[in-house]
This record gives sequence, C-alpha cells and structure tokens, in this order.
Amino acid sequence: IKKDHVEFFNDEGTKINKKVLELSSDEEKYDKGDYKHFMAKEIEEQPTTLKNGIKEYVDNTNNDINIYNFPWKANEISSIILIGCGTAYHSCLMAKYWFEQLTTLDVSVDIASEFRYRKNRFKKETLYVFVSQSGETADTYAALDLCKKNGMKTCSVVNVIESSIARDSEFVLPIHCGTEIGVASTKAFLGQILILYILCLKLGLLRKDLKKDVFGQKLKDLRELPKLVEQTLLIDNKIQTISNTFNEAKGSMFLGRGFSYPIALEGALKLKELSYIHAEGYPAGEMKHGPLALIEEGMPVVVLAPRDNYYKKTISNMQEVIARGAKVLLITNKSKDEVVSENIWETLEVESTNADLLPFLLTIPLQKLAYYSALKKGFDIDKPRNLAKSVTVE
Ligand code: AGP
Repeated sequence: IKKDHVEFFNDEGTKINKKVLELSSDEEKYDKGDYKHFMAKEIEEQPTTLKNGIKEYVDNTNNDINIYNFPWKANEISSIILIGCGTAYHSCLMAKYWFEQLTTLDVSVDIASEFRYRKNRFKKETLYVFVSQSGETADTYAALDLCKKNGMKTCSVVNVIESSIARDSEFVLPIHCGTEIGVASTKAFLGQILILYILCLKLGLLRKDLKKDVFGQKLKDLRELPKLVEQTLLIDNKIQTISNTFNEAKGSMFLGRGFSYPIALEGALKLKELSYIHAEGYPAGEMKHGPLALIEEGMPVVVLAPRDNYYKKTISNMQEVIARGAKVLLITNKSKDEVVSENIWETLEVESTNADLLPFLLTIPLQKLAYYSALKKGFDIDKPRNLAKSVTVE
C-alpha cells in the first residue's frame, strides 16, 4: 500500500485529509440483506472474509505467504510489541501465544491506553504492531505516534486502510473484511487474528524458527479454515436456547487456558457490550486464586476446552466450578474421545483442526451467544448503549 498516494475527496471534489467512518452514512450505503442486524450479517459472512484475507496473502502456487514491500529484514527484528484496545487487544493477546509457539521472537502485548503513558524502554530491534479495525482509535493512534517520535519500526493491522493509523504507520497489513457496521466487532476480530497468524508464520519461516514442511502443512490447514467456520456457524438453535440462561443470570464467567484464554476474554466482552450482563474472561487456572468465591448455584460459566495441550487441566478446572454449583457450558471440538466429566449443563462441539486454528472456531459460538442474548433482551444490537464504533477520543 503506497499510503502517501492514497487520497480522498468529498462529494464536491474537495480533497480531504482523511475519511472517518461515519456509522450513519455507511449504514445508508450498506444494507443488512436478509439479516435483522448488521452484526448477524457480519457473523455469517466470516467464511467469506476469511477467504478474502487468505487470498490476499497466501500464494497457493508456491504454498507460501506473500507480504509485499515488508520494509524490514527478518534479522532486523528480535522482538515484537502488539498494541490495541478492546477486541483488538484480544487479537494482540491471541497473536502473542502464536508468536511464542511458532517463533523465537520475544513478544509482549499492551493495552494502548496503558502503553501511551508507560515508561517505555524503546529498542530499535523491536517491531511495534498496532491493531485497530477502524484505524481511528485515539489511544492506539497516540501509542503509534509515541513510537514514531522515538524512531521505532511501526506496522498496523487495520480494516479501514484510509485511516489515520494506516496512513501514519510505516507499513500496513489490511485485514480485507469490508466495512464492519456493528459496534460489537466480529468479522474484524477473526480478520485481525488471521492476519497476525499469517505474519507469525511468515516471520517464523524467514527466521528459520519454522521448518518449510511444518510451514507448508500449516498453510494447507489454514486454507480449510473458511469451510470449518462455515460448518461451525451451523451450531445455532442450541445457542439460542442456551442464551436464555445467560439472560437470567446476575453474571457469568468465561474460562480458558493458553490459546483459549484470549477467546474467553473476547467472549466475555461480547456478552458485556451486547446484553449488558456482567461477564468476566479469566484464565481457567487462576480461579482458585480468588474468583472461585464468585461461583454460586446456577451461575452460567463458559469453559473453552478444545482437545489441545491444555485440555486435561482445563477439564479439572471445570470440575472445580461444577462442584460449586456452576452451570457449565463446555465448548470443545469434535473428537472420538468422550469428555470424562459429569454434571456438565451443556456441551457445544466445534469442528476439529490443528490446534493453532481452534481459537477461530471457538469464537463463533461466543459471538452467537452474545447476539441471541441481546436479541431476547430487545437491546440495540448494532449500536449498544454508551458505545461507539470508533473511540476517537481518550
Ligand atoms: C469490540 O467489540 C468493541 N467495539 C471495542 O472493544 C473495539 O474493539 C475497540 O474500541 C477498538 O476499536 P478499533 O479496533 O477500531 O481500534
């Protein structure tokens, strides 16, 4: 993207310095199709948006990843700091697990509103990655500006390529999701983690942290992801029924370990911002250090326990909350092995794939759970109270 050649003009043909995504104007331009809400449409179009994202970066002929004009050599980067807000911060956290798993890079994450006031130790071999759907979030932009002022390497992962964050970062990785109208981010979250996963694979290969055959197999698995999301989207009726219990609850918890922990945070945020129910995402292994005291009879708790390296430990954490009366919704992936535990209130099974990609699939039921909870409450799904699509103020 040659950002300095991207120009914008208003209807009268006068050049404007940037286009800020206005919900009302875009809402007129984009219709919901057969959907009741933009959010419903955006959840269902995720197989397509993932396919578009993969098409933009994955070279099927050579089974490789193309990131054109990447301005740095792999050996010029020894650490990465990922920065964002809200859902975009959850994308950063998800990427941290992949970077740790698949590369030898030092990786840390920060919430933009914290980063911008922290006493940062800027290092020239660190790549600063700013994740933002709108590209206009004030805290994220301020963090970018601070890094630029300190001469740091800056890269942004955005959906709106004509945004301030895209324009002012050295390099842009667009997520190609099309306009996201719903304030609660869905397709943009999956788009963000897709592009961050692709960046992780590419850097892993260039740094020789990832062997070519392992890289090639992961690309093959990645190509199957849109179809698996499509199948996972079919889990719908059961979620509609389950959402009633969440609506009647005083609060809920979303638990996960490892790759599932960022998804637990994202699922809790969706329920909070759409149905105004208090929900907390928490590392499953942390419950005994205090939050277990919150568990009372009938409290709905979502446990994300795909058959990955953390499965057994998460199942035992699940039993701790069941023993204290929680109604557990277990979300795992299809497997020939039965889940060895009693008194699980409900179980949802997403499609199976390699462990890297299970977070994409676990996200789908959580998006729908929040959507149906809000629908039953009759709340404004596309524009929840107190929230804006792009927080352009501090
Ligand atoms: C996500 O559902 C929220 N609407 C919110 O947390 C959002 O992710 C956050 O404000 C960051 O926005 P951005 O991605 O446009 O920077």
